[in-house]
Amino acid sequence: MTRIFSGVKPTGHLTLGNYLGAVRQWAEVDQYRADSLFSIVDLHALTVEHDPGRVRRLSRQAATLLLASGIDPERATVFVQSHVDEHARLSYLLECVATDGEMRRMIQYKEKAARERARGGSVRLSLLTYPVLMAADILAYRADEVPVGDDQTQHVELTRDLAERFNQRYGPTFVVPRATPPKVAARVMDLQDPTSKMGKSHEAGAGIVYLLDEPDVVRKKILRAVTDSGSEAVFDRDAKPGVSNLLEILAACRGGSPEALSGVYESYGALKADAAEAVVELLRPLRERHKELMADPSYVEEVLRRGAERAREMARPTVDGAYRAIGLLPAASSPQPVT
Ligand code: AMP
Ligand code: TRP
Repeated sequence: MTRIFSGVKPTGHLTLGNYLGAVRQWAEVDQYRADSLFSIVDLHALTVEHDPGRVRRLSRQAATLLLASGIDPERATVFVQSHVDEHARLSYLLECVATDGEMRRMIQYKEKAARERARGGSVRLSLLTYPVLMAADILAYRADEVPVGDDQTQHVELTRDLAERFNQRYGPTFVVPRATPPKVAARVMDLQDPTSKMGKSHEAGAGIVYLLDEPDVVRKKILRAVTDSGSEAVFDRDAKPGVSNLLEILAACRGGSPEALSGVYESYGALKADAAEAVVELLRPLRERHKELMADPSYVEEVLRRGAERAREMARPTVDGAYRAIGLLPAASSPQPVT
């Protein structure tokens, strides 16, 4: 059976970008057709300045939202990355296979490091090594597919390279995975700055729709979206990034393609109004289920406990195998007590 692994970082409240680019596909398609693992990858949230209490709260919230999105813990394994030691164990081995040049070429690292330096801050070493930890997340489970938005495809390519290199040097150990981004909305853009990604860690919230925003807030954000010069609502990402983003969001909500909606709207206003209603309707059931789940936090806790148990069992043999393959001496098991 195909195995799927994907994750979400608890660095901010989940956005419409996270949902359309990743989580919706996990809930609606992936969990039904494959053995799926979805992780709150909290170790990744420590790569930039963070507040410990906030990371804890966001981790719980992200887990609740994954369940509210319809991920069924009886079907898929939902867990918190730091509850399973195998990720960190494997990450170190992969650091011994990756090169520093490879890490420095990662677009996300270059962008985030430049932003941090521009603010006069320092760059955590873990920001540089982060893609190796991500590779460990995926390879520990021998996942075949990694459903992620466009911004993560370079990291999945690196994961493939590391898996192949390890297998070649030390013997067949890992499955070489591939990224499976959604066909529509693989890169939802910020409503106020449609040339940059809608990202949950950005400071300004006016261009970001959060999954838990009140319907009126969602409407306001979409109605105030920055559009382009001219008045034709045509799909052209380069010439009309704002309008194209709205067409893409609307198409994703309705299950069509943005090309098919191109030129259909007479005015930007009409497009915005439809997009706003479509997003509000899309998020309504999710918000309702989230509210129900919030009433019983012990349920979510139990899901995460069982998820971590299952994940550990799946990852342990592969990571132990990698330790042996790379040349580490297995620890002698303690003698069994005589009964
Ligand atoms: P992150 O928020 O970086 O943890 O991302 C979790 C998942 O959501 C990843 O698969 C990302 O590729 C995806 N994602 C995040 N932001 C967007 C966006 N603006 N558009 C599409 N997918 C996104
Ligand atoms: N790096 C991913 C992001 O920023 C999150 C992530 C961490 C992930 N480990 C993963 C995604 C493994 C897929 C598989 O969105």
